[in-house]
Amino acid sequence: MKPVNIGLLGLGTVGQGVATILARNAAEIQRRTGRTIQLTHAAVRNQGKAEALDLGIQITTDAQQIVTNPDIHIVCEAMGGDDPALQLLHAALDHGKHVITANKALIAVHGNELIAKAQEKGLVVAYESSVAGGIPIIKALREGLAANRIEWLAGIINGTGNFILSEMAEKGRTFQDVLAEAQALGYAEADPTFDVEGIDAAHKLTIMASVAFGMPLEFNGVYTEGISKVTRDDVEFAEELGYRIKHLGVARRRSDGVELRVHPTLIPEKRLLANVNGVMNAVVVHGDAVGPTLYYGAGAGSEPTGSSLVADIIDVVRGIDADASHRVPVLAFQPDALEPQVILDTTDFESAYYLRLHALDQPGVLATVAGIFGDLDISIEAILQKEPEADTANLSGEDSVPTVPIILLTRRVREGLIEKAIERVELLDTITQPVTRLRVESL
Ligand code: NDP
Ligand code: HSE
Repeated sequence: MKPVNIGLLGLGTVGQGVATILARNAAEIQRRTGRTIQLTHAAVRNQGKAEALDLGIQITTDAQQIVTNPDIHIVCEAMGGDDPALQLLHAALDHGKHVITANKALIAVHGNELIAKAQEKGLVVAYESSVAGGIPIIKALREGLAANRIEWLAGIINGTGNFILSEMAEKGRTFQDVLAEAQALGYAEADPTFDVEGIDAAHKLTIMASVAFGMPLEFNGVYTEGISKVTRDDVEFAEELGYRIKHLGVARRRSDGVELRVHPTLIPEKRLLANVNGVMNAVVVHGDAVGPTLYYGAGAGSEPTGSSLVADIIDVVRGIDADASHRVPVLAFQPDALEPQVILDTTDFESAYYLRLHALDQPGVLATVAGIFGDLDISIEAILQKEPEADTANLSGEDSVPTVPIILLTRRVREGLIEKAIERVELLDTITQPVTRLRVESL
């Protein structure tokens, strides 16, 4: 049988991982597919840098040459961004090539149109490497759990963000210092605000929710909050209460709609997810038949991501001669069975909450605050009052009153009610700063 030729768009962190694995494991891969798979071309911007890698393939700065080349059967995109990646993948499909991408931003935002075109042409769009690096989570959701109605999933799905939070918590390092290391290690996005502000996780959550619930990709429906405002104090207070703070993506199916949210979250320290550290990712998926299942592995990096991308190549090659109607549907459900869902507004989210208040250290404050929560029927599970804050404890002037941080943990409640409570608390003369609000998930 003739070899299958691969054209690679991008030869950076991910592209080099793909090239290394295809070369090192060529014999093993051939045993799995029954075909020889050869990387023949790669497109980059800096030709000299790519040629110095000495991969024995043709390097070009004209990516168009790859997507139109009749000898290339599969185009793998690992360049990132929208432009020119989207146009190149459309062109590849127009030229009859299967496409594989690690670009979650592109799939989350433009996937519906790209997949529709591929289906029309009997071609595949594969994107395992776009979610959770080396973890085969798309395969698990789409195939391994296909018997289930998926109720919810929750995961740590950004390696850079988790690396930052773990290093801050464990080693007391600063945010900027850890981010710089994540960039040097090739984990971070070209624009690292995508990592720290949760946009990258929102892209991945969009993809997982679609595959889990059988809905079209709905990136604009994801509520997104980053980790840049998580303070060392919050990390420490959470620990005192028996929790760790993780940046979580949550997709939950309810009778009235779907919650799609990415935000820093307190998780009980005994939960497995609370102990996922560094660049590792993990996703818990709850199916009605199987119950909770957990998937864990490297969430970013050259070979872990290359592992997922090469697995997609193997999948495509195994089915390359099969009738398109016999393939696993790209978004797990038959294209005409995808159902748009009501995406719930933040006020309808249900969660427990961690609130950090700064109050004047005087009698009656706690009782007033507790009264506000009681009036709104919000149950408080724990209260922690800390020592007076150093910068307010020794104020000059006899009348000055120091402030104390007060931490409240609530039971599960609709977010709209918590917002009301915060609004009322912030109006009190005894509360000196805006209230910090973090969600708590017991999973
Ligand atoms: P890199 O920046 O390391 O590599 C990008 C590659 O694409 C480089 O070879 C670059 O060429 C090339 N490139 C970029 N723009 C063009 C263009 N216009 N024309 C030709 N070549 C171009 O990125 P990563 O490998 O880290 O990421 C690639 C994709 O994979 C992104 O979508 C990212 O989100 C995704 N991803 C990344 C992971 C990771 O761990 N890094 C994990 C999972 C997904 P040159 O070097 O010459 O500039
Ligand atoms: N920047 C991403 C992360 C790469 O850190 O998770 C993997 O998708």
